[in-house]
Amino acid sequence: MSTSSPLVYVQPDNQTVAQEFANWLVSWAKDQDQDKITIALSGGSTPKVLFKILAAQYKESMPWEKIHFFWGDERCVPPDHPDSNYNMTKELMLDPIGFPKSQIHRVKGEINPEKAASAYEKVITQIVPQQDGWPVFDLIILGMGSDGHTASIFPHEMELLEADTICAVATHPESGQKRISLTGKVINRARQICFLVTGDSKKEKVYEILKQTGNYQDYPAAYIQPINGQLSWNLDQAAVALLQ
Ligand code: 6PG
Repeated sequence: MSTSSPLVYVQPDNQTVAQEFANWLVSWAKDQDQDKITIALSGGSTPKVLFKILAAQYKESMPWEKIHFFWGDERCVPPDHPDSNYNMTKELMLDPIGFPKSQIHRVKGEINPEKAASAYEKVITQIVPQQDGWPVFDLIILGMGSDGHTASIFPHEMELLEADTICAVATHPESGQKRISLTGKVINRARQICFLVTGDSKKEKVYEILKQTGNYQDYPAAYIQPINGQLSWNLDQAAVALLQ
């Protein structure tokens, strides 16, 4: 378990969380000495704003040529489907900046979920540097649902936190939609893990997790604790309303 406590950054609103995070991300990326920077992206509302900001403000100054994009989770839908996290990223950021296709490593949501999970594992194993037989991403961006889920690890599938595979097939608790998610062991091995969490519907879970109180042990997001890396929570005022 990491000995350093999480960094907590609070901004007035969702737009400012995304802007400050974009600024941080670009300077972090510029500081990386390695030839290849591996980043797993997330779906959700704040990343949407983040991707727009990166495309609009940082097209020229981000070291895009070193970056390899992955996803922490993906919905099992075709790549042009409105639910696809890849599709959202493509439309808002990858196409506008002309990001090289060879550095995009999406989950094949259009094929059988078990096959998609194992194909995605293979790609990760080929591209992401490993330590002790596990991939170590440079950065994983995560959201948190109002039920405390993160990536696509939901409270009814806590076993995915400890699964001995790189990714797994998950099932959305209400819609039954199949998803592919990185497992807890991979997420916790990343060098940097950054939660982007905004909005009033998250405030109870943010409070319980950051204070380690109430039912926090029932929420997958509470188990995101990097082994050697750094964890940050990037929050807006609405999400921290109960902390103040
Ligand atoms: C996804 C996500 C998921 C998301 C949270 C928060 O693809 O669904 O990766 O974990 O980040 O559900 O989503 P919002 O920011 O939209 O609340």
